[in-house]
Amino acid sequence: SGLEPGWADEVRALARRRDAVLLAHNYQLPEIQDVADHTGDSLALSRIAAESQASTIVFCGVHFMAETAKILSPGKTVLIPDAAAGCSLADSITVDQLRAWKAEHPGAVVVSYVNTTAAVKAETDICCTSSNAVEVVASIPAGKEVLFLPDQFLGAHVRRVLQRENMHVWAGECHVHAGINGATLTAQAEANPDAELFVHPECGCATSALYLAGTGAVPADRVKILSTGGMLDAARESRASSVLVATEVGMLHQLRRAAPEIDFRAVNDRASCRYMKMITPEKLLRALREGRDEVHVDPELAARGRAAVRRMIEIGQ
Ligand code: 13P
Ligand code: SF4
Repeated sequence: SGLEPGWADEVRALARRRDAVLLAHNYQLPEIQDVADHTGDSLALSRIAAESQASTIVFCGVHFMAETAKILSPGKTVLIPDAAAGCSLADSITVDQLRAWKAEHPGAVVVSYVNTTAAVKAETDICCTSSNAVEVVASIPAGKEVLFLPDQFLGAHVRRVLQRENMHVWAGECHVHAGINGATLTAQAEANPDAELFVHPECGCATSALYLAGTGAVPADRVKILSTGGMLDAARESRASSVLVATEVGMLHQLRRAAPEIDFRAVNDRASCRYMKMITPEKLLRALREGRDEVHVDPELAARGRAAVRRMIEIGQ
């Protein structure tokens, strides 16, 4: 690209001048991750955004993440380098669909994945991320019905772990994770009998991974269903020489940094999120120079969603 060699220094200088903290999700381009003040999964980044003393948050991630930061910190300026960086999973339920679903289940507790719009969060009791979804649902009294949305694979995982019958799951999915399929995972697990498997619970193949573990085709202790942050913790503790990674390919960068001695391989090397990759060094520079794209959340919606997001950052600390 036409980037100047000193672009990263310029990013840091501009960020200092704006009193901005730079946050990058684990799926961002490696050069964006490397220039950020903090990298992490969606829960860790929400917590950092809530606690930061900086007056501006620059969110290198997708739109719902920046919106979540704005809901938590309405007095801060929140910038995203490209406001068009959406999320196919967040698009898989609208607020009208959620209202209709709630009307069918009066009294049910609504648990929304953080991958949702601010309007959906305003109709939600508790938000969760992939790293605390099990704890969030477990915190709801057993007699209460639960509506879990929008991810069917994460929902199925939580239901399986908690054996909870009164939990209804929306049929949404992330196009990137749904495309990492069980047949590919099974073939690779068979070809690499010593490898561990790190599988994100949004994957369509999470069920296959557990099936492999259940049949003994892969030893159960080699199969781990983890959020992106959980994968990094597991990498630091792992004694394996190779790990098959079922999630978005941006994850490999932090995994290789966390455990350089391990051979990390993507189960599907085309599993790249086009929204995450819309955040480029050029757009990050533009964001800092021009103060755009600023993220606004209607204050009334934000006020209605704030309690649900706060409960999310408190559960599983
Ligand atoms: P986590 O980083 O919370 O595991 O989320 C994955 C994801 O798909 C975010 O878009
Ligand atoms: Fe959304 Fe999937 Fe991209 Fe994550 S990887 S931002 S869930 S589309």
